[in-house]
Amino acid sequence: MKFFVDTAEIDQIKELNDLGMVDGVTTNPSLIAKSGRDILEVTKEICDMVDGPVSAEVVALEADDMLAEGRKLAKIADNIAVKVPLTWAGLKTCKTLTDEGTMVNVTLCFSANQAILAAKAGATFISPFIGRLDDLNLDGLELIEDIRTIYDNYGFETNILAASIRSANHMSDCAKIGADVCTAPPNVIKAMANHVLTDKGLDAFMADAKKAGIKIV
Ligand code: E4P
Repeated sequence: MKFFVDTAEIDQIKELNDLGMVDGVTTNPSLIAKSGRDILEVTKEICDMVDGPVSAEVVALEADDMLAEGRKLAKIADNIAVKVPLTWAGLKTCKTLTDEGTMVNVTLCFSANQAILAAKAGATFISPFIGRLDDLNLDGLELIEDIRTIYDNYGFETNILAASIRSANHMSDCAKIGADVCTAPPNVIKAMANHVLTDKGLDAFMADAKKAGIKIV
């Protein structure tokens, strides 16, 4: 399973990228706004740092305008994946950009039917939002499972990019289901390292090492 980091904060991406934890990056208009940076500038900086796909989202609603924005974003770097919403205009834009050789990430997916349409439109990535479904007491992981089954049934090549991930458990659950990629905020990726028994065990080892005066260097 690939890890994309879901942020536009350069320092946080760099920290994880230096550890080999970043296979790509996803942004959205809210994350760009939070960074306080110009979308074109910050996206270029991210693309220069990270080898894998970097998703940059359009902000237009009509297909022609989306296409113009998508083409401009695609010119930033070869590793741009243009992010479009799962609307008819977004699907139309997806088809055209895909035919032009640009990677497309179809976002705001909340149903298996939407995921089928994105695959038919040639999307490189489909982004089902787990956390936002869970927030409504619906089952985000079940959606990932359904899309995995459907894509495998028909050999759709669109990558399942599990998004809106809120916890470390979501990451391993998505891996078990067979999501191709998980995109998560840096704090969630870091939280995957935490375990109370690791902390407890380490405390005991440190106490014994101190008692015995163990020194290595
Ligand atoms: C990533 O592509 C999505 O935009 C992001 O994961 C949404 O996450 P949120 O629901 O926590 O805002």
